Amino acid sequence: RPIEIGIEVPDEQSGQKVKIGIYFATWWALNVVFNIYNKKVLNAFPYPWLTSTLSLACGSLMMLVSWVTGVAEAPKTDLDFWKTLFPVALAHTIGHVAATVSMSKVAVSFTHIIKSSEPAFSVLVSSLFLGEAFPLPVYLSLLPIIGGCALAAVTELNFNMIGFMGAMISNLAFVFRNIFSKKGMKGKSVSGMNYYACLSMMSLLIVTPFAIAVEGPQMWAAGWQNAISQIGPNFVWWVVAQSVFYHLYNQVSYMSLDQISPLTFSVGNTMKRISVIVASIIIFQNPVKPVNALGAAIAILGTFIYSQAKQ
Ligand code: 3PG
Repeated sequence: RPIEIGIEVPDEQSGQKVKIGIYFATWWALNVVFNIYNKKVLNAFPYPWLTSTLSLACGSLMMLVSWVTGVAEAPKTDLDFWKTLFPVALAHTIGHVAATVSMSKVAVSFTHIIKSSEPAFSVLVSSLFLGEAFPLPVYLSLLPIIGGCALAAVTELNFNMIGFMGAMISNLAFVFRNIFSKKGMKGKSVSGMNYYACLSMMSLLIVTPFAIAVEGPQMWAAGWQNAISQIGPNFVWWVVAQSVFYHLYNQVSYMSLDQISPLTFSVGNTMKRISVIVASIIIFQNPVKPVNALGAAIAILGTFIYSQAKQ
C-alpha cells in the first residue's frame, strides 16, 4: 500500500485521486484551446449567440452519433429525468451565452478574472436560497476574492460594462447549474458524460429561438462572408475547433463533477482560469498593468483561502 506522509492511504483512494487529477488536467487543457479559438472566432465574427448555439449543436451531434454508432451507450431516461434537467439546462444556457457575450466585448483574461469570483457567488446562493450558514473564515475569504476582482475591473484597460455584466451573470447562472446538476445526477444511472450530452441537447433547444431573435440569419450571413474574406477558409476550422473543444471540456468537467462536490468543482474551475488567463494574455498580447495583474492574483489567492476555510 502507498504511504503518504506516514499515513496509510488505501489504494482505492489514491487511484481515485489520480483519476480526478487526470480529469482536471484534461479539462483545463481542453478549456484553454476552447478559449483561444472562441476568441479568435469572436474577433472576426462578433455574433456570440450564434457561436454559443453552434457549440451546443456540435456537442449534441457528436453525442447523438456516438449513441447511434454504439461508441457510447445511450442513457435510459424518463420524463422525470428531462423535467429535472430543465432548470439545469436553463442555467447552463444563460451562463454559456452570458460568458460568450462577455468574451465578445472584452479580453478573455478579463472575463476569466471576473469569473474567478464564482465561489463567492456559490456562498451567496447557498446562504440566501438554501439557508446554509458558513463559518466566519469562509465569509472573510470572500473579501480578497471580491476585492481582487474589483481592483482588476477598475484597472482593466479595455473595460466594457456588457463584458463585465456578462461574466457576472454567467457566475450566478453557473452556481445554480452546478447545484442543480449535482442534485440531478445523484442516485441516477446516467453517467456524467451522458448527463452533459442531454444537457447540451436541451440547452440547444432553449437557445436556438433566442439566437434567431437576437441576431438572426441575415446578420450571420453578412458577418460570415466578412470573416471568410478577412481570414480565409481557415475561419471554418476555427469555428469547428471552438465548438468541438467546448463540448469536450464540458464533458470532461461533468465526468469530474460526477466524482466530486460542487465546491471542489468550483475551486477546480477557478484554478483552470489561471491557465486560461496566462495563455490568453500571451497569445492575444493583451496589455496588462501591474495593478491589474495584482487584482487578478489577489482574487485567485482568495479562492485558495476560501477552499481552505471551507474545508
Ligand atoms: C462558456 O462559454 O460557457 C464559458 O466560456 C464557460 O465558462 P466556464 O469557464 O465557466 O466553463
